[in-house]
Amino acid sequence: MKIIIDTKEKIAEMAADRYVRLLKEKPNAVLGGATGSTPLGLYAELSRRCKAGEISFKDAMSFNLDEYVGLDGTHDQSYRYFMNENLFNHIDIDINKTFVPSGIDTDSASDYDKAIQAAGGIDMQLLGIGNNGHIGFNEPGTPFGSETHVVELTESTRSANARFFESIDEVPTHAVTMGIKTVMNARSVILMAIGSAKAEIIKATIQGPVTEEVPASVLQLHPDVEFYIDYEAAALL
Ligand code: F6R
Repeated sequence: MKIIIDTKEKIAEMAADRYVRLLKEKPNAVLGGATGSTPLGLYAELSRRCKAGEISFKDAMSFNLDEYVGLDGTHDQSYRYFMNENLFNHIDIDINKTFVPSGIDTDSASDYDKAIQAAGGIDMQLLGIGNNGHIGFNEPGTPFGSETHVVELTESTRSANARFFESIDEVPTHAVTMGIKTVMNARSVILMAIGSAKAEIIKATIQGPVTEEVPASVLQLHPDVEFYIDYEAAALL
């Protein structure tokens, strides 16, 4: 486990350096993407570097962690829309090689793991972390053996995400998410955390017991995991 602590600007740059190294070594790498506020600085940096010719995604593929059930990719709160707006439209990736679980055809959830395997497996999975320790939308109590599946969102997650919707009533009640096992199968994982609201859960994730009650704590068992944490989120370590 590697832990990098710096300002939020610097961790975004250092995480971008990690992508540069990976794509130099393996231009057709399979990337695992995340949404939320945390990766926005990283995505802006990757977009900037791609425009400057410092990195290319033209042979890469990507699989996102999760999607809200009931929202199609044209909905401005869908995670497909988020990825297009914040990353894919600004880099040279082939959009046909970017995948986000379907929030509409949820019967196909288990095919997502098969598609990842058929692509050769994820080389590097990016994660944020929920205030309750969720990764993807794997809420506390999710079995470590889980694969891509539909979940009911907790009230804590729905209220944390309500800021993006007109009201909490509009926040979907369910999501489809890669499972914990899907994430752990990635050859490498980078988790980013920003801000004091994440300080307690970052301590529990890195220094607490490995327990399904703190889904991200499973990362202690991953052979190649890096945490990129800003000073505020690292305050209790
Ligand atoms: C997003 C995702 C979630 C977020 C987490 C943190 O695809 O899977 O686990 O990473 O909820 O969200 P932010 O970054 O908004 O604090």
